[in-house]
Amino acid sequence: MAKQHWLAFISLSFILLPCLCMATHENDDDDTKTYIVYMGSLPRGLPDYSPTSHHLRILHEVLNDDVNGINNDATSSLIRSYTKSFNGFAAKLTSDQRDKIAEMDEVVSVFESKPLRIQTTRSWDFMGFTESAIKRNATAESDVIVGIIDSGIWPESESFSDEGLSDVPKKWRGTCGGKNFTCNKKIIGARFYDYAQGRRDTARDELGHGTHTASIAAGNKVHGVNFYGMASGTARGGVPSARIATYAVCDKLGFCFGHDILAAFDDAISDGVDIISLSLAHPEPREFFYDSIGVGSFHAMAKGILTVHSAGNFGPPSASVTSVSPWILTVAASGTDRRIIDKLVLGNGRTLVGNSINPFNSNGSKFPIAKINGDSAKCSKEDGRRCSCFDTDMVKGKIVLCNEILPTKTTAKSQGVLGVITVTDSQEEYSQTVSLPSLDISKAASFIVGSYMNSTEDPKAEIKRSEMILDKNAPRITDFSARGPNPIIADILKPDITAPGVEILAAFSPVASVSGYDQDKRSVKYNILTGTSMSCPHVTGISAYLKALHPDWSPAAIKSAILTTGKPMKKAYSDDAVGEFEYGSGHVNPVQASDPGLVYDISKDDYVEMLCNFGYNTSLLQQVTGDNSSSCPRCSHRDLVKNLNYPLLGVNVKPSTSFKIQFNRTVTNVGFVNSTYKARILQNSKVNISVEPEVLSFKSLNEKKSFVVNIIGKGIANQTAISSSLIWSDGSHNVRSPIVVMAF
Ligand SMILES: *[C@@H]1O[C@H](CO)[C@@H](O)[C@H](O)[C@H]1NC(C)=O
Ligand SMILES: *[C@@H]1O[C@H](CO)[C@@H](O)[C@H](O)[C@H]1NC(C)=O
Ligand SMILES: *[C@@H]1O[C@H](CO)[C@@H](O)[C@H](O)[C@H]1NC(C)=O
Ligand SMILES: *[C@@H]1O[C@H](CO)[C@@H](O)[C@H](O)[C@H]1NC(C)=O
Ligand SMILES: *[C@@H]1O[C@H](CO)[C@@H](O)[C@H](O)[C@H]1NC(C)=O
Ligand SMILES: *[C@@H]1O[C@H](CO)[C@@H](O)[C@H](O)[C@H]1NC(C)=O
Ligand SMILES: *[C@@H]1O[C@H](CO)[C@@H](O)[C@H](O)[C@H]1NC(C)=O
Ligand SMILES: *[C@@H]1O[C@H](CO)[C@@H](O)[C@H](O)[C@H]1NC(C)=O
Ligand SMILES: *[C@@H]1O[C@H](CO)[C@@H](O)[C@H](O)[C@H]1NC(C)=O
Ligand SMILES: *[C@@H]1O[C@H](CO)[C@@H](O)[C@H](O)[C@H]1NC(C)=O
Repeated sequence: MAKQHWLAFISLSFILLPCLCMATHENDDDDTKTYIVYMGSLPRGLPDYSPTSHHLRILHEVLNDDVNGINNDATSSLIRSYTKSFNGFAAKLTSDQRDKIAEMDEVVSVFESKPLRIQTTRSWDFMGFTESAIKRNATAESDVIVGIIDSGIWPESESFSDEGLSDVPKKWRGTCGGKNFTCNKKIIGARFYDYAQGRRDTARDELGHGTHTASIAAGNKVHGVNFYGMASGTARGGVPSARIATYAVCDKLGFCFGHDILAAFDDAISDGVDIISLSLAHPEPREFFYDSIGVGSFHAMAKGILTVHSAGNFGPPSASVTSVSPWILTVAASGTDRRIIDKLVLGNGRTLVGNSINPFNSNGSKFPIAKINGDSAKCSKEDGRRCSCFDTDMVKGKIVLCNEILPTKTTAKSQGVLGVITVTDSQEEYSQTVSLPSLDISKAASFIVGSYMNSTEDPKAEIKRSEMILDKNAPRITDFSARGPNPIIADILKPDITAPGVEILAAFSPVASVSGYDQDKRSVKYNILTGTSMSCPHVTGISAYLKALHPDWSPAAIKSAILTTGKPMKKAYSDDAVGEFEYGSGHVNPVQASDPGLVYDISKDDYVEMLCNFGYNTSLLQQVTGDNSSSCPRCSHRDLVKNLNYPLLGVNVKPSTSFKIQFNRTVTNVGFVNSTYKARILQNSKVNISVEPEVLSFKSLNEKKSFVVNIIGKGIANQTAISSSLIWSDGSHNVRSPIVVMAF
C-alpha cells in the first residue's frame, strides 16, 4: 500500500519541492503506528538492568491491558530497542497504548516515527580551503571517524580507496555488516537498518545520496573527475585521511524513518565516531525530545560528538528551518562562484539562459517546438501543456514546453520527445541533472518563447549543452535553503552557518539513477547534486578537520570556531527580515575556523539549564541526562534561554514595545596565551548596544572571561527583525557574533 504511494516520488530529483514534502507513511495495520518511546539515559550502576527486558515489560503491561486484543504480543510489537547510548524503544502501538506509555514515570516522550527525506569541485577552493592554505596533520586526521547517517555508501568508489591509510584506529568498536559489502581502512564501519523486513540487506547505496555526502565530507582526493566532461577537476573531501562509518537508514527512494535514525545514533555513539553528519530532514519542526535527531544528537553531544545537520530545503518561507536544537550545527546552502547554466536558442536567433545540467551535445540544428493549442485525441490541452500527458503524434521529434515540473516529464523520452523546456516559478539559482536535452526557464523567459511561438507557423529551437559561468555575486543563499527564525525557540538562532550546496560534484552510486528519474539508465561514478544535503557534509568535513587539529575541543567549541569565523554575507532576499535568517553567521571559513582566538563553550549542564528555562522540569531532565545532580535553577524562565552561551545572540521581543535586554556570555581563550580583546559593535540605528566590560585580558590558555551585552530599543514592528554584530578583536583574531532582535 505504502509502496504504491511512493511510486509518485520515484522521479523526483534530490531537491524537494515543498508540496511533495508532506509525504506520510501509511502503516500496514490501520490501527497501529510506529512510535518511538524515549526513556532518557540508560540507568547507571544497575548491573542486572536489561533495557530490552524493561522495554518488553512496558509493552506487556499495555498490551495485556488491551481489551480489544488487537495485538498482545509484546515481542512482535517491538521494532527497535535502544540499549547502547540511551534508553528507549520503537514499537507498533495503538493511540490508547501510546497514551498509557506516555503517562509512565520512566518515559520522557513518545512520538510517532515519521519518514524524513534526504535534502538533495570547486567548493573547497571557493571556501579558501585550498591545499596550500591548510596545515594538515594526516596522522591526527586519520584518527578521526566521521559517521554518516544516510542511504549507505558505494564501497568500491575510488573516493573511498584506503591506499596509504594506516590501520583502523584502536578506539573503533563498530562493525561492518551486510551482504556483498566489504569495509576497508577508509570505510571502517557499515550498518544498515531494514525498516520493513526484507527491503535491505546491505549498506550498499542504491540512491547515490549517501555516497555523495560521504565523499564530500571525507572522500579521498581523486584527480580528473567530471560529469560527462563538465565541472572537471579534482574531487576531494574535507578530510581525505579521515575514516568513514556509514549508517544506512534511507531507502532507494530517499525515505528515512525516525526509529531507524535513532537506532543509527544509538550505534554510532557506542561505535566511537567523532562527528555525525545527517543530510536529511523532517518537513515539520519538532521539539527537542520529540524528534529522533534531537534525542540522538543530545546524547551524542553528551559523549563529545558534534552532530552536523542540513537546515532543510523548505525555503524560502520564514521559519521553515526544521533543525532547531542548540547542540546541533545547522547548515544552510549557498552557491559558489561556478554556476552551470544552459542556453536555448530560438529560431529567430534570440538566446535565453536557463538552468540545467545538460550533457547532451547539440549538433547545431534547431528542432520544432510542439504547439499544443487544443485538446488532442489522447490528451487535454491542459495536460498537454503541463506535460502530464504526451500525445506521440504531436510531440515526436519535437521540443515540448512544459508549464509545470512534473515527474511524468520522464516519459518524454519514450514518447519520442527531443527536448523539454520547463517554466518555473521559483527564483532558481541551481541546475539539476537531466535525462534528455532540457532546461528550466523563468516565467519572464517563457513569455519570450510564447510570443515567438505566436509569431510563426513553424517555431524551432535548439537546446545547447550546458556551460560553466562565473557568478560574481557568489556566495548567495539559495531560495530552497530553509530560513529562520527558529520555529521552536526563536532565541536560538537557526540556521547556524551556510556552505556550498549548489551543483556539487562528488562520488555517486553507479546503480543509482543519474537524474533521479527512474527511467534514466545511465551510470556514473561522479554526479552533480544540489541541496542542503550537500552543504551539510562540507561543514562535517570542516568539523572533522578541527577535531583533528584540536582533539580536546568540545562539540560546542568546534561549532563556535566555525560560527564566529563565518564570513559576513549580504541578504539575498528582500522578503527575509534579516540576512541572518538565511545564513546564520555567514559563509563558512575553514582556515580561520582552525584558529578562532576565542570560543563560546557550552557544557551539557548549560544545555540542561537552557532546557529548564525552556520549560522542562528537574525530574524530566534528570532522566534525560541520567544524572540526578542536574537540577533546574529556582528561577527558571523562558526569557533566560537567550543566556545559553550560544555564539550567536538572538532574542525575541514583544512587537512595538520598548525593550531592555541583557545577554550574558563567557568566552574561552584558545588563541595566544597573553592576549587582550576589545569589543566592537556594528551599530544599528534602531537600538543602542553596549558591552561590559569592553576589554577582556587573558593570561593563559583556556582561561574564561564573562561579559554582558546590553541592548536598548524603542520597539520593533511585528514580524520584523534587526541585526547587528559584536566583534571581539585582539588585532589578529576577529571573533564575530551576529546579534538579532526580532518580534515574531
Ligand atoms: C600530528 O598529530 C599527532 C597526534 O595524532 C602528533 O603526535 C604529532 O606530533 C602531530 N604532528 C605535527 C607535525 O603536528
Ligand atoms: C556485489 O555488488 C556488485 C556491485 O553491485 C556486483 O557487481 C556484484 O555482482 C555483487 N556480488 C554479489 C556476490 O552479489
Ligand atoms: C543534427 O541531427 C539531426 C537529427 O539527428 C539531423 O537530422 C541533422 O541533419 C543534424 N544536423 C547537422 C548539422 O549535422
Ligand atoms: C500567444 O497567443 C495566445 C492566443 O492568441 C495568447 O493567449 C497568448 O497570450 C499569446 N502569448 C504571448 C506570450 O504573447
Ligand atoms: C515534570 O514534567 C513531566 C512532563 O511534563 C510531568 O509529567 C511531571 O509530572 C513533572 N514533574 C514534576 C515534579 O513537576
Ligand atoms: C540518584 O537517584 C537514585 C534513584 O532515584 C538514587 O537511588 C540515588 O541515591 C540518587 N543519587 C544521588 C547522588 O542523589
Ligand atoms: C549576567 O551577568 C551579570 C553581570 O555579571 C550578573 O549580574 C547577572 O546575574 C547575570 N545574569 C544571569 C541570568 O546569569
Ligand atoms: C605572558 O605575560 C606574562 C606577564 O607579562 C609573561 O611573564 C609571560 O612570559 C607571557 N607569556 C607568553 C607566552 O608570552
Ligand atoms: C540611543 O541612545 C541615545 C543617547 O543616549 C538616544 O538619543 C537614542 O534615542 C537611543 N536610541 C534608541 C533606539 O534607543
Ligand atoms: C503579529 O503578526 C502575526 C502574524 O501576522 C499575528 O498573528 C499576531 O497577532 C501579530 N501580533 C501582534 C502583537 O500584532
